Amino acid sequence: MKKDRINIHFTVIENGIKIPISTRHGRYPNLMFLLKDELMLESFGECGGVGRCATCVVKTKEIRGNSAIKDRNEPATLSKLGFHETNIRLSCQIYITADLNGAEIEILEI
Ligand code: FES
Repeated sequence: MKKDRINIHFTVIENGIKIPISTRHGRYPNLMFLLKDELMLESFGECGGVGRCATCVVKTKEIRGNSAIKDRNEPATLSKLGFHETNIRLSCQIYITADLNGAEIEILEI
């Protein structure tokens, strides 16, 4: 099966409401763009995914593989806000891959 045809299913929690999400690999460049588009979030992802604005912070559960690793600007940006937990992430730094299957992603208000 081609990678771009693999369906990916996970749950997003916004204001305590669980929302099932289904997408495909490659449909969005990263999780921030998916959340902004699917949930029509205002003031979310203001830097366009560079990892500097921290307007796309989420709490993750059950993300696997390389998607669970913080990379590039992410640790420094989160640490400036006092977030050091491994499950607090910038959604713009999480790619949409099969690593998200079965995950829970909670949108945090900061
Ligand atoms: S979109 Fe700015 S840090 Fe994620």
